Amino acid sequence: MNDKSKQKMSGYQSYLIQDNLKYFKPHKTSVTVTFAEELRKTLQEPKKSISPKFFYDENGSKLFDEICSLPEYYPYNSETEILQTLEKKLLPYLSNEFHLVELGSGSSVKTRLLINILFKSQTHLQYFPIDISEILDQSAKNLCMDYENLTVTGVVDTFENGLDFIEHYDDKPNLITFLGSSFGNFNENEGMKFLQKINNLMKSDDLFLIGLDLKKDQQVLHNAYNDSQNITAKFNLNVLKRINDELGADFDLENFEHHAIYDEEKGRVEMYLRSLSDQSITIPKSDLSVTLSKDELIHTENSHKFSISQIDSLLNECNFEKLEIWFDSKNYYSLVLAKKL
Ligand code: AVI
Repeated sequence: MNDKSKQKMSGYQSYLIQDNLKYFKPHKTSVTVTFAEELRKTLQEPKKSISPKFFYDENGSKLFDEICSLPEYYPYNSETEILQTLEKKLLPYLSNEFHLVELGSGSSVKTRLLINILFKSQTHLQYFPIDISEILDQSAKNLCMDYENLTVTGVVDTFENGLDFIEHYDDKPNLITFLGSSFGNFNENEGMKFLQKINNLMKSDDLFLIGLDLKKDQQVLHNAYNDSQNITAKFNLNVLKRINDELGADFDLENFEHHAIYDEEKGRVEMYLRSLSDQSITIPKSDLSVTLSKDELIHTENSHKFSISQIDSLLNECNFEKLEIWFDSKNYYSLVLAKKL
């Protein structure tokens, strides 16, 4: 690690778990302050919202894993199908020894498919998972148990902050992955800025692998975000429980319902929490009292779906050269391999 990376880590606590595993976490107080401050702002706007990045406390991450095992939630299955047949297609691009940088590693299940591919062309691998969820801690330990020649350096933080850390790490090429169609959760401007940020920090021999969900039959989309077991509803409502637990708020979860709808014009599934009555809520740590009328919506997530031409122009505008685009057998989902132009 060079001096710039060390400096970037000064606001973090480092945890050395074992020789081949360490991770960095921002100090707990700074996380709580950011959460409280952001809510203070977004819940006072005319259209109230809660950023989707707050879904992923421990319980939220577990619920997201449950979503991924639902038959209706095709993005997980479609992406896994592509990754399972990737070895022959990806290996020709891996002639050097690569680091693996994963944005939004979560429970690192799909990562194993990529690690297996990388170990076909190199004997040792440095893996940098970056995830806002503390689940990173356990998943990194599991990986280290299963792969002898793996060194893991995790960053428990936003993608942006994690990327700042990777930027000055060393000269070896990175395979930067952004799977799970998480890119779809950005709004248009944020998404462009984020891709540009990745592009700016990439070296000429780095590779970028991104999973992007495609436009499709609206019933398929509806079912994916309104599953029959109501796990997506629990995942959505859990953010209110998190605000209660961490910021001392008094949301009554029975007074809200999950609402997810596809907006064709905007090409995205929008997720909300609907207030079932006129009510007021206090959030002591945000120093805030919120009033909600019956049927008022709190926006919690956008999940964009892309056409091939949108993907092409996105990559172009952000200075990427598309090397490959792979699809699953239903053409629901795409995985794009790109490099810096
Ligand atoms: C993490 N992200 C890509 C998921 C999505 O599909 O937008 C989050 C999710 N929301 C509801 N179900 C899953």
